[in-house]
Amino acid sequence: KKSQAWSALFSEPMSDLVKRYTASVFFDKRLWQADITGSLAHAEMLAAQKIIGAEDHASIQKGMAQITSEIESGAFEWKLDLEDVHLNIEARLTQLVGDAGKRLHTGRSRNDQVATDVRLWLRGEIDLIADLLTDLQKALVDIAEKNVEVILPGFTHLQVAQPVSFGHHMLAYVEMFARDAERMADVRRRVNRLPLGAAALAGTSYPLDRERVATTLGMVDGNGQPCVCQNSLDAVSDRDFAIEFTAAASLCMVHISRMSEELILWMSQNFGFIQIADRFTTGSSIMPQKKNPDVPELARGKTGRVVGHLMGLITLMKGQPLAYNKDNQEDKEPLFDTVDTLKDTLRIFAEMVGGQMDTATGARTGGITVKPEAMESAALRGYATATDLADYMVKKGLPFRDAHEAVAHAVKAAISHNVDLSELPLEVLKQFNPKIEKDVYDVLSLRGSLNARNILGGTAPAQVRAQIARHRARLG
Ligand code: ARG
Repeated sequence: KKSQAWSALFSEPMSDLVKRYTASVFFDKRLWQADITGSLAHAEMLAAQKIIGAEDHASIQKGMAQITSEIESGAFEWKLDLEDVHLNIEARLTQLVGDAGKRLHTGRSRNDQVATDVRLWLRGEIDLIADLLTDLQKALVDIAEKNVEVILPGFTHLQVAQPVSFGHHMLAYVEMFARDAERMADVRRRVNRLPLGAAALAGTSYPLDRERVATTLGMVDGNGQPCVCQNSLDAVSDRDFAIEFTAAASLCMVHISRMSEELILWMSQNFGFIQIADRFTTGSSIMPQKKNPDVPELARGKTGRVVGHLMGLITLMKGQPLAYNKDNQEDKEPLFDTVDTLKDTLRIFAEMVGGQMDTATGARTGGITVKPEAMESAALRGYATATDLADYMVKKGLPFRDAHEAVAHAVKAAISHNVDLSELPLEVLKQFNPKIEKDVYDVLSLRGSLNARNILGGTAPAQVRAQIARHRARLG
């Protein structure tokens, strides 16, 4: 009894273990919609080229409509025996419409079919990810705007360095996510190209109109010109587009992970800079006082998982000779999981950081609670304005290196009296440089330090506000 599409040649059936080992239907059924969309575009072109008749085309359309509703309602019976999503759908089509169903695969192979499906599916997911990246950036810009004047210590080496605006700090992440969005848009251009017509590996003898299929599927460039893979061997075998996507996703997760690390630190009692809403934290089963930042911790952890998928995919590719090899079936689970993880993480971050958005009013509720006093006192404790004192002396004529040395002595004195630089009396400060006058206290304050960095890309509130306006215009 035949159970596979090719079985006339085979003298023995597959064992159950081999069937289970080689089948992909339980994960690749997720591609069903792309599979049907691709098949319909192929059938339309076959009819237009008179390779199949108009009646067969109509039957294929009718059958696919029924299959769509069966899958959507859950009535469709996925069969392991039929190996993958492509053979399951084709078998059902033939069951429903007879010979027309058998004609669908004319001039096509599962090799160009699966490459097309993955590209169509991924293109749709990239579009969703682009929207999520926009939402997250908007949430961060909103928080930045509310906190332009809030000052926290900026760190290098995790040691207090110089005061920065909390808004400026949030906008640093907006820059990262903006580049992630650019990368996604760039990957999309290479995802959005048509393999169909490559057939198994060498092209086909049927007069297919590949450009017509590409146009039908929206695989077109910015000028509306069809994008068709130009070499049949390459079209069916490379998965570089999936690797690129996973690399872009990994970078995005790395940005999320860095932010997670900061949120976790800032929530620690030793910082106390922020609190996140209770619903993003969990308690401890033994320690009643605990509120643990599980969501950012998991995001940091899931970053490892996505980076692992990148390693998996790139390793999957490296030893494959041209053209298609079954190895490529292994591209799907890592790719699917990368998409799922990234989308969930972007969603949860936008809400955890920015709060819930009331779509009617645009107002946000929830999100992180910022604690300005804790941030400012941490900045004061770390002598964050020491550079400003040195700059002050330079403006009074001292060479920078000498000023640097003089301020080191001043900081030492402040530490020994357990006070901030701004609390040292003028007579004491004058010991380090006689040119110091009363106006030194303007630069020794956190706010004075912040305002002084009024340069493009700097942390002065005027600059931060200009950046916020730029992002708002860009994000719409
Ligand atoms: N399930 C296969 C995959 O994911 C489809 C292509 C199979 N082609 C083949 N010649 N066995 O790659």
